[in-house]
Amino acid sequence: MSNIMIFSIKGGEGKTVLSTNLAAAIDNSLLAFCDNTADMDFLFQKRNGFKLKHPDLFDLRMVETTTKETKKSGEIIHIDLIDDVINYVKNEEKETGKEIHTIYDTGGYNADEVIEDKYLEYSHHKLIMNADYIVIPIGITDIEIQSLKTMSKILERISSKVGRKIIANVVPCRIHPNAKITGQSFQNLLNEVSKYDCFNMLETIINEHSNFKKSMSLGLGVVEAKQTRSSKSSRQIKNLIRELDLPLRSGNIGV
Ligand SMILES: Nc1ncnc2c1ncn2[C@@H]1O[C@H](COP(=O)(O)OP(=O)(O)O)[C@@H](O)[C@H]1O
Ligand SMILES: [Mg+2]
Repeated sequence: MSNIMIFSIKGGEGKTVLSTNLAAAIDNSLLAFCDNTADMDFLFQKRNGFKLKHPDLFDLRMVETTTKETKKSGEIIHIDLIDDVINYVKNEEKETGKEIHTIYDTGGYNADEVIEDKYLEYSHHKLIMNADYIVIPIGITDIEIQSLKTMSKILERISSKVGRKIIANVVPCRIHPNAKITGQSFQNLLNEVSKYDCFNMLETIINEHSNFKKSMSLGLGVVEAKQTRSSKSSRQIKNLIRELDLPLRSGNIGV
C-alpha cells in the first residue's frame, strides 16, 4: 500500500486537478476525495459513463471519504473515513495480491489546526502521519509562496509528534510556460522552499494549460483524453510520477 497525499493550505492550487491526473496515470490507483467542501459527483458520473464505453478505464477507482454511504458500483465506491479507505485497500490488496496506490485529494485547512494538539485526530493530520508521499502543488504568487511557512509549521509539529522527520515534495503548478514571465517569481519560490528542511523541491513543473481543464471536463486525466494524451501536459504528469518513483500505468492509457 502506498498513500499519496496532495496537500496545501490554500484553495485553488490545483490539488484536485493534480490528484485526478496522478490517479489516471499511476498503476493500480485509487483516488480518494477527502475534501468535504467540494462535490465530486460530476467526476463520478463522467467516469461511470466512460467506464461503460471504455473497459480499459476500469482500473481507475475512486472513493469519496466525505459521505456515509457505502456503495460499490464498478470502479466507484463511497466510503466514510480515512481508516475505512485504508481497510478497504488492505482487503483489496489481500484479494488481488497487487499493491494499490491511493491518492488523497484534500481540502482547505483551518489555521487553528497548526497549533492545537486536539486537531491531531483530524483527517489532514492523520493523512500527514500516514502518507508515504506528500505532494504540495503551488503557484508562484507572493501569497502562495508565503503559505509554505504555515505548511512547514504543520509538518514540523507533526514530525515532532511522531518522532520522525516528515518531508513534503513541492511541485510548481499552473506555471506560465514562458520563463521570461515567471523568472523572478519562480526564483522566489525556490528561495522560500530552500529555507525549510521539511521540503523537497521537485524538478518537474506542471504548466498552466487548457489541456487540464479540457480533459477534466471529460472526467479524464490528460494522459487519457485523446486530445491531450500526447501533449506536453501529459508528459509532465508522467515525469512527476517517475520523479516520485511511483509506477506508471502500462500499455496504451486512454480513450
Ligand atoms: N495545470 C493547470 N492548468 C490550467 N488550469 C489549471 C491547472 N491546474 C488547475 N487548474 C485550474 O485551476 C482551478 C483550481 O484547481 P483545483 O484543482 O480545483 O484546485 P484546488 O483543488 O487546490 O482547490 C480550476 O479551475 C482548475 O481547472
Ligand atoms: Mg480541490
